[in-house]
Amino acid sequence: MQIKTAQFVKSATRPGNYPPAERPEIAFAGRSNVGKSSLLNVMVQRKSLVRTSSTPGRTQLINFFDLNEEIYLVDLPGYGFAKVPMAVKKQWGPMIQTYLQSRQSLCAVVVLFDIRRVPREEDLQLLDWLEEYEVPTIPVITKVDKVSRNRRAAQIAPIAEATGLPAEAFSLFSALTKEGRDEIWERLEIAMEE
Ligand code: GTP
Ligand code: MG
Repeated sequence: MQIKTAQFVKSATRPGNYPPAERPEIAFAGRSNVGKSSLLNVMVQRKSLVRTSSTPGRTQLINFFDLNEEIYLVDLPGYGFAKVPMAVKKQWGPMIQTYLQSRQSLCAVVVLFDIRRVPREEDLQLLDWLEEYEVPTIPVITKVDKVSRNRRAAQIAPIAEATGLPAEAFSLFSALTKEGRDEIWERLEIAMEE
């Protein structure tokens, strides 16, 4: 994918506020602080199109970005951060479920996992919803720069086991080295063609 233009479109919490479902759309989901916004920035080759933060739980809205006036990329709010107020936590499930269930133009969801962490209940819940609503899922293990190459397989095994996905299903990514960017773009393009 050649990146010509990339810009923020709008934030929304409910379908009435989403932009019209007139283009292929790819969403990015995962635990707070896992690196969704960082991955998005690398994908579109912009340093800070999407706000990243070392404080987890900053993105609490569904944020739509336009790429080349052709596709929408969507930064979904993260989950699982203890310090997010209860009221916000309660909104997350219905907000994400509604989006996944109703968004006709959604081609795939990229689900991120931190190479240093074993997936937890919310991660598995998200995978279950994606399966239930028949949304193609692109699993990505990120922050791979945080562990040495010879530790990789050992770190990936428990993630594969917890999710029930084969280790080969995961694309490996680092926002620091940009490893995995091309492979993930290939998977996004295939998802948008189907
Ligand atoms: P929320 O919006 O809070 O849900 O977080 P997020 O998933 O969008 O994470 P974000 O992209 O803001 O990244 C969180 C922190 O992790 C930031 O300090 C990033 O710099 C860092 N980070 C993200 N990806 C990587 C990576 O591949 N490698 C390393 N070393 N750090 C990363
Ligand atoms: Mg974010």
